[in-house]
Order: sequence, then C-alpha cells, then structure tokens
Amino acid sequence: MDDYLVDKLIPFDSTMEQVQKLNNEAGIPDINVAETHGKLLYLLAKLKNAQNILEIGTLGGYSSIWMARALSENGKLYTLEFNPDYAKVAEQNIRHAGYEDKVDVIVGKALDTLPILEEKNVLFDFIFIDADKENYENYLNWSLKLANPGALVIADNVVRNGEVFDETTEDARVKGVQQFMDALVNNPAIDSTAIQTVGVKGYDGFMIGIVK
Ligand SMILES: C[S@@+](CC[C@H](N)C(=O)[O-])C[C@H]1O[C@@H](n2cnc3c(N)ncnc32)[C@H](O)[C@@H]1O
Repeated sequence: MDDYLVDKLIPFDSTMEQVQKLNNEAGIPDINVAETHGKLLYLLAKLKNAQNILEIGTLGGYSSIWMARALSENGKLYTLEFNPDYAKVAEQNIRHAGYEDKVDVIVGKALDTLPILEEKNVLFDFIFIDADKENYENYLNWSLKLANPGALVIADNVVRNGEVFDETTEDARVKGVQQFMDALVNNPAIDSTAIQTVGVKGYDGFMIGIVK
C-alpha cells in the first residue's frame, strides 16, 4: 500500500533516491521515516511557513532534507546527531541535495548540544523529535523551552507496535515513550494528539502538538 501511495502522490525523486543509496552504502540502519512521512513533515513545515526547524536525531539526513525543502528563503534547520559517522554521511547527503547553507548538523548527545542552541537564542517554529526514546521527556522540555508560541512539535515512534500500552514493560525505550506521554497529560504548555500509523515501517505512530 505504501508503494501505491508513493507511486500516486510522491513523484520520482532522484535526490532522495541518492540519499537512500548513500545511506545503504555507508551501512546506516534503515530506520529513517517512510517516504510518506517524510513528505508529511515537508507539508506540515511548509504549512507552518517555518523559519527555523529543529530536528533531534539526524541519522543520514533523510528527514532533514525533506524538512529543509520547506524552509523559507532565509530559513535554517539545525539537526542533532550523536553518531559522528552518521553525521558525516548526513552532511554529504545535505550537500548533494543543495542545502549545506541552510542545514547545520550538530554532533554530540542532544542533551549536551541543545544548550548551544539556547545560547544562540534561536527559537523554532517546527520541531521533530526522532532520537533516543529514553530521553523523549527531556526533549519535550527542551522543545518547550526553544519553541516560538504556536510552534509545531512532532515526536516519532510513540506507539511502538502497541507496546506503549503495556504498563508492565521492561523495555527502556517503551518506558521512555510512556514518560513522555505522561508529561503531555494536561500539560498547559502544549496541545497535542497522537496518530497511529501502519505501513512500510510497520505499526507505530507519532505525537503532534502545538506549543501554546
Ligand atoms: C530514528 S534515527 C533518526 C532518523 C531520521 N530522523 C530520519 O528519519 O532520517 C535516530 C537517530 O538518533 C540518534 N541518536 C540517538 N541518541 C541520540 C542522542 N542522545 N543525541 C543525538 N542523537 C541521538 C541515532 O544515532 C540515530 O541516528
């Protein structure tokens, strides 16, 4: 079904084809967002007319490039990646795609590099959380700190094959998402929902919210 949707709605894209090829060659795990999700991120960032975008979890830069395509003329995307080898591949992909002036890949643990953005006084209109699930609650708190009012926050993988429903789980990633979801309950700073998804990446879902 994903193939059908991509075939109908996402024209052949040599840049993204190249990104996937380089990622495969570099041995980067196939854990980037699906094509349909990449396009959704692009559409939402475009709708938001995003000036500054923050991504936590770069991998090979696939979702970064989708979002960079939505940036306004003077827009900027900062993407945070822990693994220096992945970051190097991402930078290469971003350069090939023509966004090296608009996208900064910041290497290090996101909790160590987010303060750099705070020091720079950059505020964001669009934030995509897609890194280690154990820190999702911390990333939510940072997002609220670094967001403009009305900013859109999206966090990926919040369903995890339905495991997030399991209160007896011992999986640290699932527990991380549960803490994140608990932090959203009646949170006065953000109005949110979550959507379950099924497709080429299996059964999962994402949280989407607007910062008040
Ligand atoms: C699911 S992948 C991101 C996929 C990417 N957003 C895409 O769709 O193309 C998660 C990434 O987060 C990175 N990561 C894990 N822990 C991190 C941390 N503490 N700080 C920054 N990045 C981290 C991983 O190395 C991995 O590249």
